[in-house]
Amino acid sequence: MTFPVHRYRRLRQSEGLLKMVRENSLSTDDLIEPFFVCEGSGVSQEISSMPGVRRLSIDKLTSEIKAGYSLGIPAVILFGIPEKKDDLGSEAYNPDGVVQRAVREIKNVLPEVVVITDVCIDEYTNHGHCGVVEDNRILNDATLELLSKMALTHAEAGADIVAPSDMMDGRVQKIRKTLDETGHQEKVIMSYAAKYASAFYGPFREAADSSPQFGDRCSYQMDPANSDESIREVLQDVEEGADIVMVKPALSYLDIIYRVRDKVNVPVAAYNVSGEYSMVKAASQKGWVEGERVMMEILLSIKRAGAQMILSYFAKEAAQILNR
Ligand code: PBG
Repeated sequence: MTFPVHRYRRLRQSEGLLKMVRENSLSTDDLIEPFFVCEGSGVSQEISSMPGVRRLSIDKLTSEIKAGYSLGIPAVILFGIPEKKDDLGSEAYNPDGVVQRAVREIKNVLPEVVVITDVCIDEYTNHGHCGVVEDNRILNDATLELLSKMALTHAEAGADIVAPSDMMDGRVQKIRKTLDETGHQEKVIMSYAAKYASAFYGPFREAADSSPQFGDRCSYQMDPANSDESIREVLQDVEEGADIVMVKPALSYLDIIYRVRDKVNVPVAAYNVSGEYSMVKAASQKGWVEGERVMMEILLSIKRAGAQMILSYFAKEAAQILNR
């Protein structure tokens, strides 16, 4: 049967009808807010390529997190900006490193906030790579040791979820084993399972000063041309013990989110990354798009594609709108 019997506009006649047939919606429960934590005190420094996002010292961090939490955002993810970087990224697994101290402080003041930590050494290495470097090559297995040490210090500090973002093979298994052997069986692993070698991370690398000093990340992050490979990556991570799998970036990878959601039986997260944020901010500052509407449409599209949680620098702004 077709027109004139069927008229799809019938169900679009009023706000009430639209609400009744709406298939997807965004909620503050879906949001995870990223934070960049740095050393010092009283620091709240805007990141020029990410308007509205700041590097915060620990004393400034908790009030910001509290603001998000009171808007209904249940979780945060922390990225550390250490004072010193070295070859092996030793600040990454220093039990008194900036992220470890930040986690303890948050858990002290706001114990109900779900604290996720990014587990990757690139912000802590002088070469900017996510692994141990030897003769300009990134070593896989040697890196696993460092990642599991890092995850353990985060767990000991009180993090609820560790999120390895390095894309080394076998990191989930190694981290799960380390956590289990040290009495941290209850700690959750959210793996950046399908993480692509993407130019959309540009502004983040400015924020965290983590651009690779030679070469690129193509020997460990995924080729943007590949789709089937993302399924192999996520299935392997689930087998190794990932509780939640993530697709990253989100906006150019909605097809991947959709496929992954279809294939796995664990919750799927998506990372609406820095470049996706900054593009909207820049266009909206120029008056070329309506920033708020574009933001909400992007977040909804990520949800519609199948992500159950969205890591996004828009979290607070979106939560404000959802609370209106
Ligand atoms: C690695 C990491 C990166 C991002 C999150 N974790 C950078 C990279 O892989 O180069 C990017 C996040 C973003 O762009 O918002 N520690």
